[in-house]
Amino acid sequence: MEVIVCKTAEEASRLAATLITDALQTTPALVLGLATGSTPLLLYRELIKACQSGADFSRVRTFNLDEYCGLPPEHPHSYRTFMNAHLFSNLNIRPENTHVPDGTADNLPALCAAYEAAIAAAGGIDIQVLGIGSNGHIGFNEPGSPLDSRTRRVTLTEQTLRDNTRFFSAREEVPRYAISMGVGTILEAKKCVLLGFGANKARAIKAAIEGPVSPDSPASALQVHRDTVVFLDEAAAAKLQ
Ligand code: GLP
Repeated sequence: MEVIVCKTAEEASRLAATLITDALQTTPALVLGLATGSTPLLLYRELIKACQSGADFSRVRTFNLDEYCGLPPEHPHSYRTFMNAHLFSNLNIRPENTHVPDGTADNLPALCAAYEAAIAAAGGIDIQVLGIGSNGHIGFNEPGSPLDSRTRRVTLTEQTLRDNTRFFSAREEVPRYAISMGVGTILEAKKCVLLGFGANKARAIKAAIEGPVSPDSPASALQVHRDTVVFLDEAAAAKLQ
């Protein structure tokens, strides 16, 4: 793992954006794995700026990490809506090249298998963007997720339900299940870019970087990945030795 500590989240997000736009120069049909949450918002803003300045996303393919079960794509709190609003609708990307699991599919095992197959058919993910949950989750791989897990339906922990209530009007509205790429799926990305910002991520970041590789901290699996860059602000890096 390469760990880069910046003064601010803005600076870290600019560096992460440059890493992606540089890759885009050499690989116009780049395959990006994308994340939701508040953490990647600054990165997405930088990518939109880059596109306005001429970066070409017309051949880029994207695969999002996860989606809530039961929320149709057009639901205001679905991750598909989030991605359209915060990134896709502001890039010259072809909508059909953007993939987010369908949380309303009847046959979830088939949907998950098809999602994995679509990633493989695209040639695998070149760069996977990741945030981290306050409990160390990546995607929606909660503590206890096997390190070789694949795309599947997952049960969200109480901690995650609490953390994510802020996006909904009430706790009861937060779906209890999600579809998530597995830790094993994520580890197959050629490069992983983990972003961690703010003091409430410091404990999870320490476990991910300095703790043992363990399902207790799903992000710690990135220690065995051959090419992971972690971009932190000072607050998130505060507990690192
Ligand atoms: C959600 C997403 C994760 C994300 C995490 C952190 O649970 N499924 O992919 O990393 O939230 O969110 P935030 O960036 O808002 O702290």
